[in-house]
Amino acid sequence: MRTVTLAGADVPVLGQGTWNMGEDGARKADEVRALRLGLDLGMTLIDTAEMYGEGGAEEVVGEAIAGRRSEAFIVSKVYPHNASFDGVRAACERSLRRLRIERIDLYLLHWQGHHPLAETFDGFEALKRAGKIGDYGVSNLDLPSMEEAVGYGAPVTDQVLYNLLKRGIEFDLLPWCRARGLPVMAYSPLESSGRDQAALLGHPALRALADAHGVSPAQIALAWVLHQDGVMAIPKAVAPDHVRANRAAADLRLSGDDLAALDRAFPPPRRARALDMR
Ligand SMILES: NC(=O)c1ccc[n+]([C@@H]2O[C@H](COP(=O)([O-])OP(=O)(O)OC[C@H]3O[C@@H](n4cnc5c(N)ncnc54)[C@H](OP(=O)(O)O)[C@@H]3O)[C@@H](O)[C@H]2O)c1
Repeated sequence: MRTVTLAGADVPVLGQGTWNMGEDGARKADEVRALRLGLDLGMTLIDTAEMYGEGGAEEVVGEAIAGRRSEAFIVSKVYPHNASFDGVRAACERSLRRLRIERIDLYLLHWQGHHPLAETFDGFEALKRAGKIGDYGVSNLDLPSMEEAVGYGAPVTDQVLYNLLKRGIEFDLLPWCRARGLPVMAYSPLESSGRDQAALLGHPALRALADAHGVSPAQIALAWVLHQDGVMAIPKAVAPDHVRANRAAADLRLSGDDLAALDRAFPPPRRARALDMR
C-alpha cells in the first residue's frame, strides 16, 4: 500500500475510522474483529477520539491492538473544551489509559473551540517532550484558521470532511496543504451514513463506473479520494466485507476518462466555500 510520512513514520494512505464504535457492548466483539482484520490487511492507521462513544471507541481500539502495538499507528483527538494547556495533558492521559498504550502516535485538536490555538499547541508540545504523543495536528480547520495555526506551532495534518460530494477543500485548503507537504486526512470518505451516503453511493455515474470496473460504488468513491495527491482516507467499517472491499479499493486505478466522468457528475468547486463539517 502507498504510504506517506506522518509524525516521523511511514503510514499507509488508507486507515480505519472508529466513529460510532464503542457505543454498544453487544457490538464490541465485531468492532474489535473488524479493526484487527483491517490491521491484517495493512490498514494500520486507526483514527479515534475521546468523543467517540465517550471513550468507548478508544477502548475498542485498545482491545484491537492488544499484543499488536508495534503494527498500529494510533490517531486520537481531544475535545475542544479540553484543549487548554492543562486540559490536553489530562485528556491525553485518559485516552492513553483507555487505549492501553504509552504513546499516541498523532494527537489532534478535534475542532477549534474557545481555547486559543497557541495554548493548545503549547500543551501538545509538552506532551511531545514527555513522549506521550509522537506529534500533533488539527481537524476541521479551514484555510484562514490553518494560516493562523502555523504561526503558533507545526501541526502535521488537518483532518477534514472530503469525498466526491464534498469537494470544497480543493479550491483552497488542499492546494495550500500540498504546497507545505502537509497530508490531508479525509474523513467520511463514503459520506458516512443515511440519505447523504445514499446520494453518493446511489449516484448513477458512480454506479456506472463501478459496473465497468466490476467493483462497488463505495470502492470507486474511496479510490477517487485516494487518487488525490496528498490525501489519506480513514473509512469506518465494521462489516468484514466492507473492510476487505476498502482495502481492495486502494489498489484500484482510475483512468483519465474515469476521473473526467466523476468530475462531470460531481463538479469540483469554482469558488471558496465554507468548510464542510459533520
Ligand atoms: N474529525 C472529525 O470531525 C471526524 C468527523 C467524522 C468522522 N471522522 C473519522 O472518519 C471516520 C470515517 O468517517 P465516517 O465514519 O463518518 O464515515 P464513512 O467512513 O464515510 O462511512 C462509514 C459507513 O460506511 C459503511 N461502509 C464502510 N465501508 C463500506 C463499503 N466498502 N461499502 C459500503 N459501505 C461501507 C460503514 O458500514 P459498516 O460499519 O456497517 O461496515 C459505515 O456505515 C470516522 O469513523 C472517524 O474516525 C472524523
